[in-house]
Amino acid sequence: MSQKPKVLATRHLPEPVEARLSTDFAVVLSQDDSEISGADIIKKLDGFDGVLVCPTDKCDANFINALPGSVKILATFSVGYDHIDIAAADNAGLVVTNTPDVLTDATADIALLLMLGAARGAYWGERMVRDKTWGKWCPTHPLGLDVTGCKLGIVGMGRIGQAVAKRARGFDMEIHYHNRSRLPQELEQGAVFHKSLEELMPNCQFLSINCASTPETKGSVNAETIALMPDDAVIVNTARGDIIDDDALVKALSSGKLAAAGLDVFNNEPNIDPRYRTMENVFLLPHLGSATPQTRIAMGMRAVDNLQQFFAGQKPGDQVTYK
Ligand code: DGY
Repeated sequence: MSQKPKVLATRHLPEPVEARLSTDFAVVLSQDDSEISGADIIKKLDGFDGVLVCPTDKCDANFINALPGSVKILATFSVGYDHIDIAAADNAGLVVTNTPDVLTDATADIALLLMLGAARGAYWGERMVRDKTWGKWCPTHPLGLDVTGCKLGIVGMGRIGQAVAKRARGFDMEIHYHNRSRLPQELEQGAVFHKSLEELMPNCQFLSINCASTPETKGSVNAETIALMPDDAVIVNTARGDIIDDDALVKALSSGKLAAAGLDVFNNEPNIDPRYRTMENVFLLPHLGSATPQTRIAMGMRAVDNLQQFFAGQKPGDQVTYK
């Protein structure tokens, strides 16, 4: 390609990432960071070679099939790519890339924050201080739950799951996990493998959800699987909201089956199930898993690396499409 490849970035990106995009490509950057619909993105794409999308851009089969033939790559600024129809991209001969590795630590940190926050009452404790409802210190209340020494079950023992396990070992937690396949011993580091979620659940005083959203995992944390957990367990989710069945989680938190939950991701963000907002025993964050400047810059640079590799005629390092 003699001219610079033409790339559209759908959202405002960290400054160093936009600067690099502007140097390396004929780029059109987002002016106001507004979320634009798939149809509006398509209208802007005539003559473009690639698109840098975000998890907020729904790239379903309709979107993919409506892309002009000139667009050959979608580079997403995220490790998750459940917002992109990969089968449709493969059929259309469109390359899709993601940004693994660079957000592992930031996301694992948030998982630990959720575990501690949910178990130890970060939400209600902080509110007592702010609302001046903090009375005298009492030996018997309010009380949270211990984290140290408990059993932690991790569903999805990829990079982020392993980073959660590493941190949890610092709290002397006993690590159990379920994953599509068992890890080699050097990566397991003593964690106990369970071949199904059903087998894992009875071992989860804490459950950390770290798997991708796939047809197999969607809705897998539901009434049946939650019922298998010990009473007073805690669920935390830094993966995707749709892995949890909200009705089942709300019911288990209200009935006392579960002690607490810590949620950074939700179905239908940001218009989450309103019941969570009213519950005392949930600790809520607005999808902050990767939200540090260093991590977001690294994610952007990784997306740009993928675009560069593609336009240089190489297979991008983080290609998730098969063809
Ligand atoms: C991702 O990269 O998939 C994250 O959810 C964004 O923080």
